[in-house]
Amino acid sequence: MTDDELLDAARTVREMAYCPYSKFRVGAAIIDENGSVHVGCNVENAAYPQGSCAETGAIAAMVAAGGQRIITIAVAGGGTEKTRACAPCGGCRQRIREFSNSSTRIIFKDDDNEWHKFSMDELLPSSFHL
Ligand code: THU
Repeated sequence: MTDDELLDAARTVREMAYCPYSKFRVGAAIIDENGSVHVGCNVENAAYPQGSCAETGAIAAMVAAGGQRIITIAVAGGGTEKTRACAPCGGCRQRIREFSNSSTRIIFKDDDNEWHKFSMDELLPSSFHL
């Protein structure tokens, strides 16, 4: 699967986002070590801190399906006029870290449709990991 196809999967699931409060849709798609694809979207809550990010949902889907390693995760933001780009938030960087290795890639496109592709160490240097 190409990076563009994985981003397409993130963009497709982004449409399912439940985000009545922020109105900012996010989709995430993971390809795991088995070649399986897992997707997630943000799911907000009236009690704001209980909401969850798209990456969190995709990681949960991966683990439930037996995946243990993120080969690549693509993130697609959107929903406002201003921006469609979405870099993973700090909390999600740590969640991705749990299932990453030195070759894990985190990828997204900015508002000019330019790719941004990072390693885990670039996005979360000197990270905590057991
Ligand atoms: N959001 C994500 O789903 N992933 C991120 O990495 C950043 C933020 C969601 C959370 C909230 O539902 C909305 O985007 C606005 O912050």
